[in-house]
Amino acid sequence: MLIRLYPWIEAFHVISLIAWMAGIFYLPRLYVYHCQVPVGSVESERFKVMERRLLKQIMNPAMIATWVFGILLVLTPGIITWTEGWWYVKLVSVLMMTGFHGAASKWRKDFLNDRNRRPERFYRVANEVPTVLMMIIVIMVIVKPF
Ligand code: HEM
Repeated sequence: MLIRLYPWIEAFHVISLIAWMAGIFYLPRLYVYHCQVPVGSVESERFKVMERRLLKQIMNPAMIATWVFGILLVLTPGIITWTEGWWYVKLVSVLMMTGFHGAASKWRKDFLNDRNRRPERFYRVANEVPTVLMMIIVIMVIVKPF
C-alpha cells in the first residue's frame, strides 16, 4: 500500500515542507520589523496579528503534515537503508528545525505580551539558522553523500 502510494506521499511531503519553510523563513523577518516599531503602536498590534496567523494557520499545520508524510516515507519499505549516514544527519537537522519552530513560537508570545527584550540583530542572526538547516537537509536527501 505504502509502496503504491510512494510518489503521492513524497509529493505531499514536498508540498507541506515548502509551506513550512516559507513560514519559518518569514517569521523571524517579521520579528526584525516588529522590533523597529514602538510597543503599543498600531503597527505593533498589526504585527501581532500577522505573526499569529502565520504561525497558527500556516506553519503549525505545515510542520505537522511534513512530519506525517515524512514518517510515512520512513515506513515505506526500501526507502531508507539504515546503514547509510545521510538519514541520521537529516533526522538531527529536522529535529533542530522543529526545535527552532518551538523557539520561534515562544518568541511570538514575548511580542504578544509586549515582553520582547531581544535586539533586532538577534532575529537577523536567528533567521540564518533554518536556511543552513534546510541546505543540509536537501543535500542529504538528494545527494546522499554517505
Ligand atoms: C519532519 C520530519 C521529516 C521526515 C521524517 C522526513 C523523511 C523523509 C524521507 C524518508 C524521505 C525519502 C527519502 C528518499 O526518497 O530517499 C524524504 C524526502 C525528502 N525530504 Fe524529508 N523528512 C522530514 C522533513 C523534511 C524537511 C524539513 C525538509 C526540507 C527542509 C525535507 C526535504 C525532503 C526532500 C527535498 C526530499 C526528497 C524528495 C525527492 O526525492 O524528490 N524533509 N523525507
